Amino acid sequence: MCGIVGYIGTEEAAPILLEGLRRLEYRGYDSAGLAVLDPEQGLQVAKAKGRLQVLADLTGQGQKLTGHMGLGHTRWATHGAPNDVNSHPQVSQSGRIAVVHNGIIENYARLKEFLESKGIAFVSETDTEVVAQLLDYYYEGDLLDAVGKVLHRIEGAYALGIVCADEPDRLVAVRKDSPLILGYGANFHMLASDVTAVIQHTREVCYLEDGEVAVLTAYGAQVYNSLLQPVEKEISHVDWEISAAEKGGYEHFMFKEIMEQPKALRDTIFPRLRDGEVVLDEVSLTREELERLDRLYVIACGSSYHVGVAAKYTLERLLRIPVEVTLASEFRYCDPIVTRRTLAVVISQSGETIDTLAAMREARRLGARLLSIVNVVGSTIARESDDVIYTWAGPEIAVATTKAYSTQLAVIYLLGLRFAHLLGTVGEEEYAGMVAQLRQLPAKVEEILSDTEKIQYYASIYFNHDSVFYIGRNIDYAVGLEGSLKLKEISYIHSEAYAAGELKHGTISLIEDGTLVVALASWGDLFDKLMSNVKEVKARGADVVGITTRSHGAELAKSVDSAIQIPDTHPMFLPSLEVVPMQLFAYYVALMRGCDIDKPRNLAKSVTVE
Ligand code: F6R
Repeated sequence: MCGIVGYIGTEEAAPILLEGLRRLEYRGYDSAGLAVLDPEQGLQVAKAKGRLQVLADLTGQGQKLTGHMGLGHTRWATHGAPNDVNSHPQVSQSGRIAVVHNGIIENYARLKEFLESKGIAFVSETDTEVVAQLLDYYYEGDLLDAVGKVLHRIEGAYALGIVCADEPDRLVAVRKDSPLILGYGANFHMLASDVTAVIQHTREVCYLEDGEVAVLTAYGAQVYNSLLQPVEKEISHVDWEISAAEKGGYEHFMFKEIMEQPKALRDTIFPRLRDGEVVLDEVSLTREELERLDRLYVIACGSSYHVGVAAKYTLERLLRIPVEVTLASEFRYCDPIVTRRTLAVVISQSGETIDTLAAMREARRLGARLLSIVNVVGSTIARESDDVIYTWAGPEIAVATTKAYSTQLAVIYLLGLRFAHLLGTVGEEEYAGMVAQLRQLPAKVEEILSDTEKIQYYASIYFNHDSVFYIGRNIDYAVGLEGSLKLKEISYIHSEAYAAGELKHGTISLIEDGTLVVALASWGDLFDKLMSNVKEVKARGADVVGITTRSHGAELAKSVDSAIQIPDTHPMFLPSLEVVPMQLFAYYVALMRGCDIDKPRNLAKSVTVE
C-alpha cells in the first residue's frame, strides 16, 4: 500500500526521494508526491496522480525542487479519490507543515469539525490533512512538542513523516500500527515504510515500535517513546543485496521470482535439515507443550491463507491435532474457540498485513501461543510472536506472491515433520523418507522451471477465455485456490477454485461450451475420482487442462485437452510442485493479455489498512 520515504543530509533530497519511491512502487499506488525543504526556497511541494514517472517529469527528475531534506510518498487511495489534491504530502493551511501518512486516522471527521470550527479551511478529502492542520494548530515553535500533542488526539493506524518549514534541520517520524524504519548514514538519515527504499544508501536500519517518535537530522537520529522520553534503539544490519530487489535482466519481477524458487526453497529448507533430521532452532515449543495443545489455528490472508488451507491437510495428517484455518479478516469477528492450549500459526510474507496483525493480537489476548511464518525480518508480526520461522525467500517485489508462497509451504512441511517427530505421530521410516523427499524438492522445482515452453503454449491457446475453474480434491484443492488467485489477480480473468466433489452441488451449471477447467489430479489416491469430475465437465463442453504427476501422466493425457506433468514426490509435498506450472500459466496468460504483471490494478503488496 502507500509508501513513505524521507531524507535529511548533505545531498539534494529530491532525486534520492524519487529513487526511494521507485523502489516502493511495487507496494501499489495511484498517485505520488514530494515535499522538499530549503531554507531559502521554503517548502516546495509537487504531487501528481498516476505513475511515478508523471511526478518525475513534473519535477525535472527532482531537479526543480531544491533542498537537503524532504519527504516522498506513493498513495493508495482510501479517503478521497486518487487525484493531485488528495495526494500526499498534505500541507497545513499556513503552508508551514507537510505530512506524509500511511494508514487511516479513524477519528479524522471529528477532528476536522473541530479544526473547521477554529476557522481552518480544508482543501482535500483526506484524513491525512487533518494531521497536518492539527500539527500546525498546536505548533508553538517546537515540532516535537506539537507532535506529542497531536498523538494524544489522533486514533487509528499511522506511519507519519513530518517536516516543518520553520525547522529546516530536522525530520520527524511517527509510527503506530503501520511500519516505519530509520536508515543510518554517515552524513544523512532516512525514514521509510520499508527497507527497499533505503537499501541503496545504507544497510544500517532500525525498526520503530508502536508509539515511537523519531527526530532525524543529517548527523543523528533520536527515538522517543509516546511520552517523548528518549529510548535506545538497536541498529540492525540488512544482509540482502540490492540486486535482490532489482529485475536483473528479467522483464518482470514476477517471472524473476518464479525462477528464484529453487534457491528460495534451498535457503529455507537446507539449513534446517541436519543429519537426516529437521532442526528448528527458532521454535522453543517442547514435546510436553505440544502434547498439551488441543488445536492449531492458522491465521492468514490471501495466498498465505491458501498455504494455511494446505497446512490443514498436512498438519492434521502428521500431528493428529485439529487444525482450524481462518481468514485473518474474519478471525476477530467469529468468536474463535481459543484457549491457553491453542497454538496460533500466523502466516505472512510482509509481516505487516493489518488484518493478520489484528487477528494475532486477538489470539494472544485469548491466551494462544503465537508462532509466525514471516518473510520480512524485523516486521511487526515477527516481533510480536513467541516464535518466528523466517522464510528465506529474499525480497519479494511483484505484487503477486510466488516464492514467498512456496517457502511458506516449505516451512509448513518442516514444522509438521519436526512436531510429528517430537510427538511420535510419524514412524521413523516414514519420517526419514519424507526428510529425504523434502531435500529433493528444490531440484524438482528447478526441473519444472527448466522447461516452460509447453505452459507458454497452453497459455497462448487459452488466454482469451473469460472464465476459468480450478478443481481438485484434498491438497490439490488447496493448490487450486492459489492457482486461481494467481490467474485472476494478474490477468483479470474471472476464475474460481472448487473442491471437485462440490462441483455438482451448484457450480456445474456454469460449465458450458468453451469454459476452461484446470483439473489438479496429483493426489494419487483420488486420481480416478478426479477423472470422473473431468468427464462431467467435458460432457458439458469444457476445455480441460490437467496437471498430474509423471506416474499418472499417460492416463491423464487420455482424458484432457492439455496435460501437464510434474515430478513424483511424497503426496504431502505435491503443492510445491503443482503450483509452479500454475504460476507460469498465470504469468504467460497475463503477458499475452498485455497486463501490468508486477503491479496489477487496485492491488497493493502489503495491505496495511483493514
Ligand atoms: C496474492 C498475494 C496476497 C497476499 C496477502 C497476504 O498474490 O500476495 O494475497 O498473500 O495480501 O499478504 P502477507 O502474506 O504479506 O500477509
